[in-house]
Amino acid sequence: MSSSIRTPETLPESSDAGRTLAGTTLARAALPYAVGALEPAMSVETVVFHHSLHQRGCLEHAAALARGTELDSLSLEQLIQATARAPRHRTLYHYAAETWNHEFFWQSMRPGGGAAPRGLIAECIRRQFGAYDAFCHAVQDVAAALLGNGWLWVTWSNGKLQILTTANADCPLARGHTPLLALDLWEHAYYLDHQNRRASYVATFLEELADWESVDTRLAARLAATPAYAVHSARNPASYSYPSSGVMHHAPAAVPAEHSGARRNPQAAGTGDSRGIHRIQ
Ligand SMILES: [Fe+2]
Repeated sequence: MSSSIRTPETLPESSDAGRTLAGTTLARAALPYAVGALEPAMSVETVVFHHSLHQRGCLEHAAALARGTELDSLSLEQLIQATARAPRHRTLYHYAAETWNHEFFWQSMRPGGGAAPRGLIAECIRRQFGAYDAFCHAVQDVAAALLGNGWLWVTWSNGKLQILTTANADCPLARGHTPLLALDLWEHAYYLDHQNRRASYVATFLEELADWESVDTRLAARLAATPAYAVHSARNPASYSYPSSGVMHHAPAAVPAEHSGARRNPQAAGTGDSRGIHRIQ
């Protein structure tokens, strides 16, 4: 084997985590677990190539574009907000957002994750989708409807959960959403493990990887910061009350058995349907 061929063992991993890139305040985030901790659901090869090559490249591009400009002291989140609507910074927005998306993606998974959630997020899913299985079907439908590269998100916006996709590197932070869960739908995220079978990758994510405890924590923090919501106990959905004018108050108690809405119109462009399924392109 040629010594020039890179394998997971020869790729840099976390040796430079936390080190600030010169001329900026940006730093490479370490994985929140060991590189092989997600196996067998996600191989160490996928994690290392993804984190050490793709994500690293995005961060280094963002730093190179910010360096020496009025933006070089901004955090990743501040860079996203500062560049999202500035056409002259379109490329910088792309790389900053893609870096942030990846960091959030790793934080959306945990070893031994997946399966049905508990807590506030479970209650929100029940109210909007009727059952966790219906929610999973909706996630699969929305993921399948994305043509090309992008991201699937579960967010909180307009008083309810939203399932949406963004194209390429676009980030829901720039659109006023509170991200709760991210799933990378670029082919590099799953090709080594699932080849072109996106549905298999999405199913594995839902069944074995999704970190619903962290989603629940983010949701509780988001609702606690919203005066219109009364969160008496973040860990006790029974004591959680929705505002009488909130969208969730008007959400259907159950979705149709055939879950036909998302299948008929998975894109639900622009406004989203009553369950919060839409896409941003
Ligand atoms: Fe990626």
